[in-house]
Amino acid sequence: MGTNNLKKILSKSIEELKEKGLYNEIDVLEGANGTTIKINDREFINLSANNYLGLATREDVKEAEIKAVKEYGVGAGAVRTINGTLKIHKELEETIAKFKKTEAAIAFQSGFNCNMATIPAIVGKSDAILSDELNHASIIDGCRLSGAKIIRCKHQDMDDLRAKAKEAIDSGLYGKIMYISDGVYSMDGDVAKIPEIVEIAKEFGLITYIDDAHGSGTMGKGAGTVKEFNASSDIDIQVGTLSKAVGVVGGYVAGSRELIDWLKVRGRPFLFSTSLTPGAAAAAKKSIEIISSEPELVEKLWENANFLKRELKNLGYNIGVSTTPIVPVIIGDENKTQMFYKKLRDNNIYAKSIVFPTVPLGTGRVRNMLQAGHTKEMLEEVVRVYEKIGKELEII
Ligand SMILES: Cc1ncc(COP(=O)(O)O)c(C=O)c1O
Repeated sequence: MGTNNLKKILSKSIEELKEKGLYNEIDVLEGANGTTIKINDREFINLSANNYLGLATREDVKEAEIKAVKEYGVGAGAVRTINGTLKIHKELEETIAKFKKTEAAIAFQSGFNCNMATIPAIVGKSDAILSDELNHASIIDGCRLSGAKIIRCKHQDMDDLRAKAKEAIDSGLYGKIMYISDGVYSMDGDVAKIPEIVEIAKEFGLITYIDDAHGSGTMGKGAGTVKEFNASSDIDIQVGTLSKAVGVVGGYVAGSRELIDWLKVRGRPFLFSTSLTPGAAAAAKKSIEIISSEPELVEKLWENANFLKRELKNLGYNIGVSTTPIVPVIIGDENKTQMFYKKLRDNNIYAKSIVFPTVPLGTGRVRNMLQAGHTKEMLEEVVRVYEKIGKELEII
């Protein structure tokens, strides 16, 4: 138990967070994370999961996992460089490369780990990274870990990117210069300006790196944001996760054969952490096959997203700049946002409030994550509740 000093320090820190309303109490879900969820025996319409296509809970995906567990066991045994690659990992990576239309792919234990592995394997102390200011935490941490000079670019501001790329080149200080961004920004649902990024990257000889965690399975008919803009051959490094639309756990990097070979010898989480479980690899492979062969799933997701966006807009809500199935309802004031969230919850709708520091001060929001499996009745109920609460709180 140590000296109890740490316990006291942490207890005080937790109390401080609680006093400021910044301590996140985590709900326990009784059962699967589907279109509805149960908490304390009460059912909610779920607008919080990244299970966009319902694959986390689909029978054939579950069966693929169970079959692999029976064939390979529950654990991979060791890191792949020591113990060898299980055939199911190789099959998953071949499926990903085909899905992304790249020469090769490599699977990691999570999307977060992909960035921890890849950014430091590609750039180091003598290099620079141009990084969108709203990039995901795992990109920020991967950039810091690399030791490269981090040059923050204004969010989606291509003039700023161009100016900073030019400045970095003209300074002559750096070896490699890389541009990195999310494919879909998860707090606003806006999409990276891939054509402009490619144009600027070509002009200045930048390495391009897109982390499409939220775009894979939702954009480009499921194949992702880079595919949406037909830019597969122009983006050097495509990262994705197996935990959101794919519905399982894990992440991947897709790109040239050389990139993947390099990550197998320099991606530290690949070298020093046990690989994905065989069950997860098999389930993810099955999910990707489903995304490729059942386009109606992605179509249904968009139909649901478009319905909710249209209805919320008509009610007078500010849904920001989203062009994806992420539907933020921007309330602004943090306390009002929390009150709004609680009222949704009282009405059996589960959509999380997101406030500073995750989003800028004064832009508190409730984020609605759509799923293909949400029924018309569920979404009509959501709209009814939004109308009722909006009027009560004088937001609409
Ligand atoms: C852009 C981006 N990268 C990485 C991740 C992390 O993915 P994972 O949950 O697979 O670790 C996320 C998840 O929110 C993300 O949005």
